[in-house]
Formats: sequence, C-alpha cells, structure tokens
Amino acid sequence: MKLKIESMPLFLFLILSLFMSSSLQSDSNTSFLRAARAGNIDKVLEFLKNGVDISTCNQNGLNALHLAAKEGHKDLVEELLQRGAPVDSSTKKGNTALHIASLAGQKEVVRLLVNRGADVNSQSQNGFTPLYMAAQENHLEVVRYLLENEGNQSIATEDGFTPLAIALQQGHNSVVSLLLEHDTKGKVRLPALHIAARKDDTKSAALLLQNDHNADVQSKSGFTPLHIAAHYGNVNVSTLLLNRGAAVDFTARNGITPLHVASKRGNTNMVALLLDRGGQIDAKTRPTIFLICVTASFNALLFLTIIHPIQNGLSPLHMSAQGDHIECVKLLLQHKAPVDDVTLDYLTALHVAAHCGHYRVTKLLLDKKANPNARALNGFTPLHIACKKNRVKVMELLVKYGASIQAITEVRTACVNTIHGSFSHCSHTAAHHPESLCLPSSSLV
Ligand SMILES: *[C@@H]1O[C@H](CO)[C@@H](O)[C@H](O)[C@H]1NC(C)=O
Ligand SMILES: *[C@@H]1O[C@H](CO)[C@@H](O)[C@H](O)[C@H]1NC(C)=O
Ligand SMILES: *[C@@H]1O[C@H](CO)[C@@H](O)[C@H](O)[C@H]1NC(C)=O
Repeated sequence: MKLKIESMPLFLFLILSLFMSSSLQSDSNTSFLRAARAGNIDKVLEFLKNGVDISTCNQNGLNALHLAAKEGHKDLVEELLQRGAPVDSSTKKGNTALHIASLAGQKEVVRLLVNRGADVNSQSQNGFTPLYMAAQENHLEVVRYLLENEGNQSIATEDGFTPLAIALQQGHNSVVSLLLEHDTKGKVRLPALHIAARKDDTKSAALLLQNDHNADVQSKSGFTPLHIAAHYGNVNVSTLLLNRGAAVDFTARNGITPLHVASKRGNTNMVALLLDRGGQIDAKTRPTIFLICVTASFNALLFLTIIHPIQNGLSPLHMSAQGDHIECVKLLLQHKAPVDDVTLDYLTALHVAAHCGHYRVTKLLLDKKANPNARALNGFTPLHIACKKNRVKVMELLVKYGASIQAITEVRTACVNTIHGSFSHCSHTAAHHPESLCLPSSSLV
C-alpha cells in the first residue's frame, strides 16, 4: 500500500517524462513553430542552428514566418527574412505572410513585408488580396498603407467581390470612404454607385442598390451611374442598373442621355442594350452649352466642367458619325434612326461625317440614302463642308453619290478644282461652320 502510493507518482512521472522527451525529439518541428508563434527569437534561432528547416510548416502549410506575422512579431519576421525565409511563401490556401498580417491587422509587419518586397497584390486560392483581407476586417490603417503602396482595389475575388464590395457589405464605413477617396486620388468624393458603374462592379452596385441607393443618383455634373457605365461600355452593370429602375433616358442638364454617351464613344453593345430597353433613338442634346466628353480623364468627365459651345440638337446618330463609329452608326440605322435627322442648325449626320472626313461613315450614310444635298441653316451642303475641310476623298465620294457640284460654285470654284484632283487651297469666306464637331475624341482610361 505504502509502496504503491509512493511509487505511483514516480512511475507516472517517468512515463510522462519519457513520452514528452521522445515527443520533443521526434518533432522539433512543432516546437520550432511554437517558438515562432510565441515570438521567442532566441529559441527559434537555436532550432535553426540545430538544423531545423526554416520552411518547416504545419499541416495547414503555415511556416514560422506566417505564424510570426500573424502574431505581430516584427523582429522575428525580420530575423526570418534575413535568414532566407521566402517573403512570398504561401500556405495551402495560397496565403502569404502579407495576407496573414493584413487579415490580422498587423500594421508594422505589413509595412516590413512590403518593404522587403512582398507582392502587394498577391492573390490567394480564391483570389483574395491582402487589401481585400484588410478591408474585410476593417483594418483602416493597413488598408491605407496598402493603397499607398500600390495595392490594387480593382482586383476582385473569384466570386467577383472587390475590397469595396466587402467593406460595403460589412458596413465598414471608414474603409469604404478611404477606398472611394483613394479611387479618385483623394480629390473628389464620387458617389459610390458611379464608381461601381465605372468598374463594372456589379457586386458593389447590387449592394449599394440594396441599401436604398437611388439608381439615378447624380454626380455633381448631373450624370447618373448609367451615363458612366455607357461611357465605359460596361454592359453588365448597366443591365443591373436598368433592372433596378435606372431611367434609360435620364437627361443630364445638357440634354445628354446615356445613349448619346454610348454612341459618342462607339460602345456598340451598350447602344444595343439601351435601344433594347427603350432608349430614345432621336433624343437631342439641348440648346445650351454642353459638357463634352473630350478630356483625358474620368474626373474631367464628371467634374471639370469643360464647357464647349457646340452645335445643339445632336442625336445619337450625329454623335456616332462624329466619332467614326461605323458599327454604332449601322446599329442606329438598323433601329430606324432617321438618316437625315437634323440639329438645330439643320446639320445632318452626313454633314458631320463630311466635316470630320470619316470616309466609311460617309459611305454608309450615303448607302442608306442620306441626302447628299441636304442644306444646313447657313446653306451649306456636306460637299461644302468637305471642301472647306479639304476632305478630298469624301468630296469625291459625295459627288459620286449625286452631290451637286453646282451648289458649291457659289462658294468657290476652287472646290470644284479640288474634286477634279487639282487641289488648290479651299479658303472660302463664309464664316459659320461646325468647327467644334470634330473635337478630338476622348481617350478616357
Ligand atoms: C520537419 O520538417 C522538415 C522540413 O520541413 C521535414 O523534412 C521533416 O520530415 C519534419 N520532421 C518531422 C518529425 O515531422
Ligand atoms: C488593377 O487590377 C485590374 C484588374 O485586375 C487591372 O486591370 C489593372 O490594370 C490593375 N491596375 C494596375 C495599376 O496595375
Ligand atoms: C458580364 O456578364 C456576362 C454574362 O452574364 C458574364 O459572362 C461576364 O463574365 C460578365 N463580365 C464581367 C466583367 O463581370
């Protein structure tokens, strides 16, 4: 009895000791990882000295760097990197140390990893980026740091979720604001739905619309998300907007509709969608100054009111003729756009095409029976205008299709000479002509 009582604990102790020491010996890997998780630099270094592989990982593929990053052990992370731990090694789920630190909100470790060349936009198995993870977990400072270091918020997960979409869904308002602000380089706050429309981000748009957003919310310059989507040719988000009640013919202050925008840009699929949803094919821009989309940036389109007096009363057909978008012109005509529709100055699409020297569009319009002798308010025919702009090929074409040469002799005989190949400068004195019809076409990103 006595023996039993005294020897039992000793026996157990021996067993336990044996078990523990054998376990430690057989798996120094586990101890190494445990030391890394605890941030015990001395111990970790000792294991490494004794030959433990720095890439040792547990069953989920987490290695010492991942564990140290997760727990925010910046100095250990530094040591491991210095000793050759690969900065972008990934777990079984494809997460790098930067993903893990971003998810855990370990700002200092994030900073260190980025400075050591970690791939800021690395995507894990399901397409998650570090930025996405930080946004999801509401780590505002990490989001800010990643954005400032080329974190790309356009990269979506496999399911199509962007960092903005997840932040919206989770209600992380500061992160949402930050993402939106950063998107416009901090200058102007854009309505969120416009951003989603620009990116064709249907997930974000759907979430915004769920949260009581009006599908026709206007930017400062009066454009709706549908205008923006039309500009960029983003059919998916446009379909969503239309399904959620966006007005297909919403007219901004200047009378411009989404169909004008799409026609002007030559986004044929968008033109098709808008026509399909009842877009008015002969909508006219208003007789006011008109914000024309010719500038080089999206911000300018929305905010810098670059005002240019142009011919008023342009239809989508005029606009696609102006942009030399032959497929759009074709589509509009197929949908019965009146080929000789006129602006307030009685300019037809043929006048516009002739002015700009768009040979193919001119030919298409003529093939579709556009009147080669249509007269604008100032009496000019397309041939006059082509002559004035020295569009020799277009002039020949117009004549071939029955444009009256006689009509222009009243302007100047030089024009006739031009038609016959002996070009001479064609500088008549009639003042008014639609110079502004040929503004350089926009090259928005
Ligand atoms: C420890 O990790 C190394 C390399 O990661 C591996 O080769 C070795 O088999 C592991 N040892 C044990 C006991 O799991
Ligand atoms: C950001 O990601 C998007 C989508 O993958 C890509 O189209 C775009 O070029 C990227 N931007 C930069 C600056 O790399
Ligand atoms: C747009 O929708 C089509 C059809 O639903 C789909 O195949 C395509 O991947 C979508 N494009 C984008 C950019 O989401």
